[in-house]
Amino acid sequence: MFITFEGLDGSGKTTQARLLAARLEAEGIEVVVTREPGGTPLGEEIRNLVLHGGDMAPWAEAALYAASRAQHVEELIRPALARGATVICDRYVDSSIAYQGIARGLGLDRVLDLNLAAVGGLMPDRTILIEIDFDAAAARMGGERDRIEREDDGFHARVAGAYAQLAARFPERYVRIDGTASPDVIAEEIRGALRRDS
Ligand code: TYD
Repeated sequence: MFITFEGLDGSGKTTQARLLAARLEAEGIEVVVTREPGGTPLGEEIRNLVLHGGDMAPWAEAALYAASRAQHVEELIRPALARGATVICDRYVDSSIAYQGIARGLGLDRVLDLNLAAVGGLMPDRTILIEIDFDAAAARMGGERDRIEREDDGFHARVAGAYAQLAARFPERYVRIDGTASPDVIAEEIRGALRRDS
């Protein structure tokens, strides 16, 4: 099974990805937890460029995220799925659609097409969307902000709207989770939702 976590910066999705991995491992399932951008040596170099480098053109940004993703799928995700492991990925194609396609305005379908080419059509079986309103997310983002987190409130509001749009467009794989409860309650809800679906 290929599971991705999505949400605003500060939504708590990274914590939840780790909690789900721990639960599945405790049930005896082999789990690979990874993240984007990153997940491979090349991907981590791209992460550094895209999050901590200087300004770049919107399509350069989209292409760098897609490049990191292409390497990630080839080097890590597909081999793990092929040997029967469950892969949990903190952000994937939907992040590019939300941030570059919709918030930056490059276009949902154009960014989706670029990414489908990059990953050879591999899409997640389930996407867990951790929803919190963007004031709460901003409060949790903390002081040290990367290049994307430094975008203005309008940008982050468009990202939140983009995720709602994606959940409506892909209801068969999206699981929407209220991210305002305590981490343990959220983790329980996610495990229950995956059990119900499988
Ligand atoms: P993330 O690793 O979730 O941030 P952090 O670990 O610092 O909380 O994501 C890094 C940033 O990159 C985040 O602001 C979202 C952005 N991003 C995109 O804009 N497009 C993408 O395709 C991905 C994967 C991330």
